[in-house]
Amino acid sequence: MTDRLGRSIDYLRISVTDRCNLRCAYCMPPDGVPALRHGEILRYEEILRVVRILSKHGIRHLRITGGEPMARRGCLDLVRSLRGIPGILSVAMTSNGALLDGRIGEAAEAGLTGLNLSLDTLNRETYAALTRGGDVEAVKRTLEQAVAHGIPTKLNAIPMRGINEGELTELAGLAKRLPVCVRFIELMPIGCAGDLVPIPLPEVVARLTEAFGPLPEDTAIHGKGPAAYVRPEGFQGSVGFISALSHEFCERCNRVRLTADGMLKLCLNHARGLDLREMLRSGAPDGEIESAMCAAIAEKPARHNFQERIADRERRRMNEIGG
Ligand code: GTP
Ligand code: 5AD
Ligand code: SF4
Repeated sequence: MTDRLGRSIDYLRISVTDRCNLRCAYCMPPDGVPALRHGEILRYEEILRVVRILSKHGIRHLRITGGEPMARRGCLDLVRSLRGIPGILSVAMTSNGALLDGRIGEAAEAGLTGLNLSLDTLNRETYAALTRGGDVEAVKRTLEQAVAHGIPTKLNAIPMRGINEGELTELAGLAKRLPVCVRFIELMPIGCAGDLVPIPLPEVVARLTEAFGPLPEDTAIHGKGPAAYVRPEGFQGSVGFISALSHEFCERCNRVRLTADGMLKLCLNHARGLDLREMLRSGAPDGEIESAMCAAIAEKPARHNFQERIADRERRRMNEIGG
């Protein structure tokens, strides 16, 4: 499927729940947020129907997100069902990793093709404070299990002043020891990011260069996302950088999103989208849903609007969008 700007859209991010077992400071307020009610969330059959239709129009790669996807019962059964849809080539997941501890074998068996784990710090106390109660040891175990099962794994870390500032090289060093990608993500002004101070990625690059020497570009393809990768000498894995603001990648955007409550979202930071839940529940035939989705995707916005103060700016939190 191609949008009006000629971008080929082959990737769908599916948020299966807005709930999460953690409360990361950049994502959720300390007391959490009122969760969507059961009936407001798309049923798995409804998600499968949407994907079946989109797979006929070139959607090939899926990523399951949340909230925390593993906080919804049956999430791995959904992975298995999605893998069975003709045309779908990959089904990956972005997770905080805690609830996957001990379940990686099951995930591999369900056919999970990739795992991105949020891991901003390796320090037990810092992790507990940042996530408001999380146990970093569980995430480390999940990481080791994922590597042992050969699931391509990436780690997501947002460099934040005064939080993980002192351990950026240690985080990157995980890609030296393990065949994983460690990605540094520029904090985006969405969700609860307002109170945190991002560390500019050029500063991260400078620190890594000091620690590991030159950072030659790694041109091997690692997933379908907006990260740029380097591989320092002696590293088994690589280090990636995702900079939505300083190096906007919207021109190459290949994705749309399905929120937990059934909105086909056309861009991370645009409120505009197509309310599929109503259509799915109104008895509309596949053809009607198909035409509406294709028309919506054709009109995908040219770029995010993080810098602008306009009405169409996304007001949902990250836990409702899934990143
Ligand atoms: P890979 O295919 O493994 O590279 O996945 P990914 O990097 O797209 O997915 P992940 O869920 O790990 O997201 C990493 C970061 O990239 C998160 O902070 C996302 O919010 C951000 N991200 C993903 N897609 C987009 C996008 O289209 N626009 C912007 N601005 N950020 C995005
Ligand atoms: N800016 C950048 N990345 C974010 N994430 C959550 N909130 C933000 C933000 N404000 C990332 C998390 C997670 C992924 C799904 O989105 O690090 O790994
Ligand atoms: Fe949960 Fe992910 Fe948000 Fe952290 S970033 S609170 S793990 S949904």
